[in-house]
Amino acid sequence: MPSDKVYVRTFGCQMNVYDTGKMYALLARDGWERAETPEEATLILINTCSIREKAENKLHSTLGEYRGLRKRGQQVRVGVTGCVAQQEGEAILRRYPDVDLVVGPDGVPHIRELVARAQAGERVLDTDFLALAGYPFVPDVDPQASKLHTGFVTVQKGCDHKCTYCIVPSVRGAEVSRSADEVVAEVEALVAQGLKDITLIGQNVNGWGKGLPGDPRFGELLLRVGAVSGLDRLHYTTSHPSEMGPDIYQAHRQLPNLVPHLHLPVQSGNNRILKRMHRLYTREHYLDVVAALREARPDLVLGSDFIVGFPGETAAEFQQTLDLLVEADIVMSYSFKYSERPGTPAPRLPDAVPPEVAGQRLTALQTLQRERSLAWHRSLEGRVFPVLVEGPARHDEGVIAGRTPHGAMVNFPGSLEQLNQLALVRVTKGFTHSARGEQVGSADLR
Ligand code: SAH
Ligand code: SF4
Ligand code: F3S
Repeated sequence: MPSDKVYVRTFGCQMNVYDTGKMYALLARDGWERAETPEEATLILINTCSIREKAENKLHSTLGEYRGLRKRGQQVRVGVTGCVAQQEGEAILRRYPDVDLVVGPDGVPHIRELVARAQAGERVLDTDFLALAGYPFVPDVDPQASKLHTGFVTVQKGCDHKCTYCIVPSVRGAEVSRSADEVVAEVEALVAQGLKDITLIGQNVNGWGKGLPGDPRFGELLLRVGAVSGLDRLHYTTSHPSEMGPDIYQAHRQLPNLVPHLHLPVQSGNNRILKRMHRLYTREHYLDVVAALREARPDLVLGSDFIVGFPGETAAEFQQTLDLLVEADIVMSYSFKYSERPGTPAPRLPDAVPPEVAGQRLTALQTLQRERSLAWHRSLEGRVFPVLVEGPARHDEGVIAGRTPHGAMVNFPGSLEQLNQLALVRVTKGFTHSARGEQVGSADLR
């Protein structure tokens, strides 16, 4: 009899990528193999995201795809996990009679039991938040974690911020910090699998430590993780500008393997909008944080997130966002049109920005961003960097791709045998999204 195989389709942020790995690892304990395609699966889980309306809509189309498999005679159970599962809960079971289980993010630690119940024929719903005390962070490491370019390790779940546009606190619950020992143990397990690059993840990682004995600071955790032997590159994401502090600047000053790149979402460059978003910092404070980071690590490269068209945003206020991109020297960013999320306070704010205006602002911001990215990649021309090889280049045979320590993607002729190794590469030409280069040696930093 063929064994059971599970396929997980993942949408959303690194928290979902991580949860997917944990579900594979936990289900493997019960003999579930990993299916390479949905066609060979006996269980399909759709790990969903509800951060913006567009993301949420993907659930519907994806369920449609998998319905087709059943029509063609495939015996498969289908489950919905992640943030849309948490948000919609029972409504998913009512709306889609062919869905077998609906499990929110806090169901991940119990996925084995929930799947077993579905296998026994029950339609399973689990959207309860777990108690915060003794939160069961899953220690099992995804056996295929080293296939990703970086090993994700959660340091915290949930979010205690109350940004007025954001669905995350209601779908991921309150913040819980994971103990430093557990974090370090998981980092060591991934490094033992061959990973040289680790990313500490959470929605507000730099708020880590609250509620743990002794009230430790995130900077201390960075120092402990940075000391793990064999770890070449350490990243952390996402940080909140209001919770950056001297402990973190010190880690940037002290740790050579803490990468000189930080993703620090600012959302808007205007103080009135930041206040309406309940971001708890001003434009000036953000710039001070960036200056302190650069003082600690002069080669730091800054990335950010922006929301345009937030209710009430005027043309002049939006212009301040464009100006901030230049003033803070942000060279990479993700930007989004504001999207109303159910149950969040922002939709009740007056003066909604018409969608076509929001669209124009998004185009303006992304145009400026592309110019800045191009200028940055060009500024790397002629310089040599250690590049950690991630895989084949997208378009060219015989060309591989990897990243510099500060996150620039470089394509250069090479072989896939170099996967997960460091090459010394001279950048020869910068483009908007990446650069081209040539290998000039190998770089083993250890
Ligand atoms: N915890 C992180 C971000 C989480 S969500 C932080 O505080 O920055 C990732 C990004 O999605 C956010 O930075 C924001 O730019 C965007 N985003 C979140 N909610 C949104 C909404 N309702 N509409 C548009 N963009 C949104
Ligand atoms: Fe959402 Fe704000 Fe929390 Fe980030 S910090 S997850 S934007 S509520
Ligand atoms: Fe999406 Fe949930 Fe992450 S809403 S962005 S998958 S925390």
